[in-house]
Amino acid sequence: MIEIKNLVKIYRVNPIVNDLSVTINDGDIISIIGPSGCGKSTFIKCINMLERPTSGQIFIDGEEITAAGYDLLKVSRKVGMVFQSFNLFENMTVIENVMNPQVDILKTSRQQAYDKAVKLLKRVNLFQKAFSYPDQLSGGQKQRVAIARTLAMDPEIILFDEPVSALDPAMVGEVKAVIKDLTHTGKTMLIVTHDMDFARSIGNRLFYMDEGTIYEEGDPETVFNFPKKEKTRRFVNGLKVLEFKIDDSDYDFYGAYASIDEYCRRNHIDYRKSFHIHSAFEELCQGILLEKLNDYRVCFSVIYSQKDDSVEISVLYGDEPCNILEENQSSLPLKIIKGISSSLRYEKTDEKGYANRILMEIR
Ligand SMILES: Nc1ncnc2c1ncn2[C@@H]1O[C@H](COP(=O)(O)OP(=O)(O)OP(=O)(O)O)[C@@H](O)[C@H]1O
Ligand SMILES: [Mg+2]
Repeated sequence: MIEIKNLVKIYRVNPIVNDLSVTINDGDIISIIGPSGCGKSTFIKCINMLERPTSGQIFIDGEEITAAGYDLLKVSRKVGMVFQSFNLFENMTVIENVMNPQVDILKTSRQQAYDKAVKLLKRVNLFQKAFSYPDQLSGGQKQRVAIARTLAMDPEIILFDEPVSALDPAMVGEVKAVIKDLTHTGKTMLIVTHDMDFARSIGNRLFYMDEGTIYEEGDPETVFNFPKKEKTRRFVNGLKVLEFKIDDSDYDFYGAYASIDEYCRRNHIDYRKSFHIHSAFEELCQGILLEKLNDYRVCFSVIYSQKDDSVEISVLYGDEPCNILEENQSSLPLKIIKGISSSLRYEKTDEKGYANRILMEIR
């Protein structure tokens, strides 16, 4: 069992992992997803102490591996890691790559290490390459060797950091199949991946990481089908989000319009929709909300779904409940808003710092 308590990792002044606590049970297969830069790699590297946490504690089977003076060799025996970039020794043959850590770290005899390497290379279907060098292998084959090398250490826990991201599409399948096969061994596995189908199908738990922590977790089907939090919903559905937080009356609206143009261009949003997003921003924020609110705090998000080519706008505002759709029935800005939306509704919300939300679908 891995118990993580209040884990913090700060680079310079930036908290990348921020007060993360979680318990991982023996045999859990956990996929970890989340936006680039949210701290997924940093988090799993703390579990094998490749990164030393700034504060917090990690216990593996009741022993605190983060304690001062804890033998890190013990950690490397218990926790194996497979990297995106394979990290094989190029000057050694495939079989030597799999034998070496056994001999060096576990002090296994060369014969035993050889026998085990043969068994594991057969397991990943690569015995025929045992005496080749890494540069004679495809990416998928290299990654399978890296997996065999990790297994050779008999780790209880295996961490995978985007194991298929560096591969040609044609090779992704073979590596995924090997990883899938390992899920039957009873080992605990944590798999960071940007491959949503893989994340969804491989494990019994899914962590969505954001804001330096495990922002939402659950069984994969539930998180994908019924995410509890808005950010999770946007991520698992592959929604492209542009967000503006307006916090004073001198807000740079021209800058915001330029960002909308850039966002529409990047996502191939057509001219009409792009024009309507401009109008929504102008009428809702400048025309209605900033006229009305005293504290000027508005969070305006454009959410584009590539899947169905739709654009949704979400506007959060105000500390006190206030439905601007009811109060400004005959105003020109509201008439324009109605004209450019195919659905428009108000709801109360408990999002941090805001009491109200307008949701509109752009026509
Ligand atoms: N050694 C380091 N020194 C300084 N900053 C770092 C270091 N390693 C990572 N970071 C920063 O920490 C943040 C999180 O990085 P991390 O690699 O954990 O993200 P990630 O979720 O794995 O992203 P990706 O999906 O792109 O791999 C990034 O902003 C990164 O620039
Ligand atoms: Mg990463």
